Amino acid sequence: MEVLILVGGRVGGNTERLCSELVGMFPDGVVSNLLNISKMDISHCIGCERCKGGDGCIHDDDMSVVFEAFDRADVVLFATPVRFNGPSSIIKTMMDRFQELWNDAGVVEHRRRYMGLLMTSGSDNPNPDPCLRIFRSFCLSFGGEWIGYVLAPGTDSGRTDFGKYAESFYDTMVNSVIGPQ
Ligand SMILES: Cc1cc2nc3c(=O)[nH]c(=O)nc-3n(C[C@H](O)[C@H](O)[C@H](O)COP(=O)(O)O)c2cc1C
Repeated sequence: MEVLILVGGRVGGNTERLCSELVGMFPDGVVSNLLNISKMDISHCIGCERCKGGDGCIHDDDMSVVFEAFDRADVVLFATPVRFNGPSSIIKTMMDRFQELWNDAGVVEHRRRYMGLLMTSGSDNPNPDPCLRIFRSFCLSFGGEWIGYVLAPGTDSGRTDFGKYAESFYDTMVNSVIGPQ
């Protein structure tokens, strides 16, 4: 089983840390691929719809790396800091580039994948709903099966127990995709 984790937080930041804790819990046999979008070259979709004609995207950038990893993955986890109650702009930029896949340009194989969401937030009580709605609807759009989410709040205090939240999401994954070890 291959798990792709697409992180849209700072390089070496809180969201990446939450994801690294999760990866550390995976048993043998689960292959993980953590890509931090923040250090990749991914341009904005300009909505030209060139991909609709099957001619591919006008951009030649690291989105090809994301599509290759997405193609292989059985589980796709999105990970974002809460920013102004929504996802980070970089992960949304990446998401918009899936228009090429939406237009069915043969970019990746269409098959059922599990998808889920990891979030961190500076405050103790942020509203997770805007991020949840966006990522759940992405999952539905691409025929995915939603496995759930975790929010690790209160990072501003510097006392967030990332291991605890990673473990809670790992339990979710055990119940849905990995199975008891
Ligand atoms: C531009 C910006 C907007 C943010 N907006 C929120 C917010 O709306 N609510 C919140 O609780 N934290 C907010 N934060 C704090 C981040 O969610 C928090 O620091 C997060 O853990 C950072 O993750 P990272 O280190 O992976 O980037 C914001 C941070 C930035 C830089």
